[in-house]
Amino acid sequence: MFPQQNAFRQYFDLSGFWDFRFDPEDQGQAAGWADGFEGSQPIAVPASWNDQFLEDGAGGARDNLGPAWYQLNFGLPWGFAGRQLSLRFGSVNYLADVWLNGVFLGRHEGGHMAFVFDATEHLHADANRLVVRVDGRLAPDRVPPGNLPREANEGFAMHSYPDTAFDFFPYCGIQRPVLLVATPRQAIHDITVTPAIDGEDGLLRVKLKASGDNARLVLEGFGSQRPARQALKLEWEQGEAEVRVPKASLWSPAHPNLYRLTFELLSGGQVCDAYSLQVGIRTVAVEGSLLLLNGEPIFLRGFCRHEDFPVSGRGYLPPVIVRDYDLLKWVGANSFRTSHYPYSEQMLDLADRLGFLVIDETQAVGLFFKEGGLERRLELCQQFTSELIQRDKNHPCVIAWSLANEPNSIHPAAKGFFRQLYDLARSLDTSRPVTVVSMVGEAEESFEFLDLVCLNRYNGWYTQSGDLDSGVQALSAELDALYARYKKPVILSEFGADALPGHHAQPPEMFSEEYQAEFITRYIQLLESKPYVVGEHVWNLCDFKTSQAVFRMNSFNYKGVFTRDRRPKLAAHRIKQLWEEKKR
Ligand code: GCU
Repeated sequence: MFPQQNAFRQYFDLSGFWDFRFDPEDQGQAAGWADGFEGSQPIAVPASWNDQFLEDGAGGARDNLGPAWYQLNFGLPWGFAGRQLSLRFGSVNYLADVWLNGVFLGRHEGGHMAFVFDATEHLHADANRLVVRVDGRLAPDRVPPGNLPREANEGFAMHSYPDTAFDFFPYCGIQRPVLLVATPRQAIHDITVTPAIDGEDGLLRVKLKASGDNARLVLEGFGSQRPARQALKLEWEQGEAEVRVPKASLWSPAHPNLYRLTFELLSGGQVCDAYSLQVGIRTVAVEGSLLLLNGEPIFLRGFCRHEDFPVSGRGYLPPVIVRDYDLLKWVGANSFRTSHYPYSEQMLDLADRLGFLVIDETQAVGLFFKEGGLERRLELCQQFTSELIQRDKNHPCVIAWSLANEPNSIHPAAKGFFRQLYDLARSLDTSRPVTVVSMVGEAEESFEFLDLVCLNRYNGWYTQSGDLDSGVQALSAELDALYARYKKPVILSEFGADALPGHHAQPPEMFSEEYQAEFITRYIQLLESKPYVVGEHVWNLCDFKTSQAVFRMNSFNYKGVFTRDRRPKLAAHRIKQLWEEKKR
């Protein structure tokens, strides 16, 4: 549950300038840095460390993936004493060890998900010292993996520096805000809201985990027409209840209607805690070759994206979120995938409010199934799948879960691996379809049990390079074969071409803006002619930073239809036109 401020709850944002030090010899722990360290330089938090500095006293800060240490001294805000106090990290890439006043609070592995440590017993009323060791190094038994042994990824071995098994820069550090959170001793610990539709009415199945003896619910609609406030007396059964919303205003991209549900926890007849949640009443379902929202077929027109911007790297940057939503609206998109990791909670809150449909993806990109570390990679994927669903389950914008991007699923172990993750995801949430975003196509045997077929294709770029006619023809045949085999809705979850901003050619030529525009146009025309295709996501919304590699000029992926500083290329104008025509 994202922290809130109300009569019972408070949080204090520790963002700002922290002390920072690289630890090239990895000696910090032995040297007692957990209790505090000298010789530091200021660093901005939240942000990646890689582009904040030029030097690291060794080969340069950019490619230094750690370990490195952060330190912050802070006083306890008034009114916090005597409450349940915790430290909440929005995200730290990749492995974080946390100490408070010299006491080890815990470790978290995984760079894109929030984690919380109880700090009540260890906080001082005055001066406190928080120390975080961050290790962003790449390894085969991490997810996403890196520094793979040559034989690990037969057929897909393209090496880069840093040697990632994925195509984006492995930015490191404390990348989302760190909050000091105060909650009451008797509190609400977890809320699950699953919407349904019953004729004109909406139904909200609510599940509450709390340490109180009873709770009540206040339902508020957004906007003037809605009933102001309705206190609902609910029959709780083991912390579960159902709310009926007569003549409900459903949530959809066209009408992103939201309700606010405020849970008030009672103890001895007194309210001892409260938590408000914005919810939308909408349903998602797969029926034959259709993807249904509120029972109506939908078509996903949108993009993949990265949390990526100059200098701050993968740091949480609210203005870029606002800008990207404005770009999505301008170009006529209704959806995006959180490629290739969970995005910030604030990004999803705005998707609820602005009416964008989201395929929510774990950080499992570049998976391979050779022995070395396979078990550990499965454990991590199970952790990341649970964390993702636990964090994002109440967002109406989230319409599907993506368990992984482009796993090397030729390997016989892949199907069993994904079967386990699929069953886990379904056990946590039965209200949304689950998929894996594939690059192997028909060979992705997991499509037998997955709910949606998601495929990435670059015919006319990586294959049939420069020859769009044969590329599109081959794609058409492959899509038909895929549908014939699995009979499930198909999403082309990635397609696109690199275009160097300002580079032009007529007739169109690879790396020119014209070729990118033509490539995307031909794909959209093909995809919208296939009745079983329910979505098209262009790779990528904006250019973004990658590792160094022969196929990555300036260490950039230029497949954005907007530049990295969010200016449109020719393709952006072309897509806007195409999608406007489709909507007429
Ligand atoms: C892949 C992959 C992306 C990558 C893209 C590309 O399909 O999923 O992460 O950036 O292709 O090569 O441009």
